[in-house]
Amino acid sequence: MALTLITGGTVVGPTGRSRADVLLDGEQVAALVRPGDTTLGVDLASVAETVVDATGKYVIPGAVDPHTHMELPFGGTAASDTFETGTRAAAWGGTTTIVDFAVQRTGERVQDSLAAWFAKAEGSCAIDYGFHQILGGVDDDSLKAMDELVTEGITSFKLFMAYPGVFYSDDGQILRAMQKAATNGSMVMMHAENGIAIDVLVRQAIERGDTAPYFHGTTRPWETEEEATHRAIMLARLAGAPLYVVHMSAKQAVATLARARDDGWNVFGETCPQYLYLSLEEQLGARSEEWGDFEGAKWVCSTPLRSRAEGHQDELWRYLRTGDLSVVSTDHCPFCMKEQKELGLGDFSKIPNGIGGVEHRLDLVYQGVVDGKISLERWVELCCTTPARMFGLGDRKGVLTPGADADVVVYDPAGHTSIGYTSGADAAHGNRKTHHMNMDHSAWEGFEIDGHVDVVISRGKVLVSDGEYHGHPGHGQYLRRSTSAYLR
Ligand code: URP
Ligand code: ZN
Ligand code: ZN
Ligand code: ZN
Repeated sequence: MALTLITGGTVVGPTGRSRADVLLDGEQVAALVRPGDTTLGVDLASVAETVVDATGKYVIPGAVDPHTHMELPFGGTAASDTFETGTRAAAWGGTTTIVDFAVQRTGERVQDSLAAWFAKAEGSCAIDYGFHQILGGVDDDSLKAMDELVTEGITSFKLFMAYPGVFYSDDGQILRAMQKAATNGSMVMMHAENGIAIDVLVRQAIERGDTAPYFHGTTRPWETEEEATHRAIMLARLAGAPLYVVHMSAKQAVATLARARDDGWNVFGETCPQYLYLSLEEQLGARSEEWGDFEGAKWVCSTPLRSRAEGHQDELWRYLRTGDLSVVSTDHCPFCMKEQKELGLGDFSKIPNGIGGVEHRLDLVYQGVVDGKISLERWVELCCTTPARMFGLGDRKGVLTPGADADVVVYDPAGHTSIGYTSGADAAHGNRKTHHMNMDHSAWEGFEIDGHVDVVISRGKVLVSDGEYHGHPGHGQYLRRSTSAYLR
């Protein structure tokens, strides 16, 4: 088997950092060796087929994004990244594993919807992938399907308290699914927003003529997230099931989660870079020459971006430090402005919900290290180790230990990453495309990162090095997940 040696770097894991060379044997990590160690009696650099010089750089496990929506049919269109384009972009950004959401829509058999997701991803992915299952309805059939899916490596299920008539489940349905999860060891992931109340506020806003993207934010106020989070926690407690609340953005909702954790309950929270950096005022309220006040559509997602004046962003960073938020995912769900976000011109409620960011998470969270918000070790824990452990991949992913998959990122703290624009109109203003996602804009344009993803290796294969891409569709393999390490 081909040996790869990564020399001279500082290996960083969730519990610490040390100077070590990393030896990869084919698709697995073989050993971590102290620099200059001669006890093996061989000069590793001379026997390795590939030597990667990581001097002055961090060597970390390939990042794991446990929340993406490639090709998601939503809002009358479909997310603009396919498994091929989305996983290529992920690789560019140092993410070597995604867990995407297969979607059951009301009336569909769960198994049929999952088969459709396998077909989309098969042979297309540049990096390894697993699936969660979205349940668009909970009934006797889908409850039975939950047991079947767990044996196939789909060990987590997303339910929605939002989007009545689309993905919504009522409290009785949620309770039944949680009771099932409590018996089969799976994890319920919750989109916690009170969709019934939100729909009333949205209708009233549109009737008032408040139709711009900004009002997407004001009609999903923090109370609707906090209330739903609280209800989800109580239902999970009733069912004796663990709970993972996705894409949290309101500080009050996380405070409620933190209280439940303090009381010893098995509940977890995830946030995303958009909630850490962006805001209601600056993004949803943005105006541009090209789009007027529709500019804000680029940042329409749910839960919504929150008010900076209310201080949610700083509080979320604090909860990442205290451990009450366990994971940073992207909730990557890209839609172009042209023909997709545009569906909501004159009515924000028709803007497809979602932001693309699968390429930028490792960089954006690393900037939090530079800015003194989290430690280097916590960065690796939030982006690599915990997402893998949380979703039953901890034996292979998110760690650099002998036997784990040879997924490695060499990250340069002296490097720099500028995130640019993309669309034709923007190009006319002298800007340039820097990302690889299939989007006609960037939600992160203008962001400057004091670090750089230099080398990306997936199961021993170099996907990115020296600013060049060497991956290909079909390298990525399906990951059969076990139940969560946090539930055993
Ligand atoms: O706005 C969002 N978050 N779109 C993706 C679907 C979801 O609810 O996660
Ligand atoms: Zn959601
Ligand atoms: Zn999502
Ligand atoms: Zn090349």
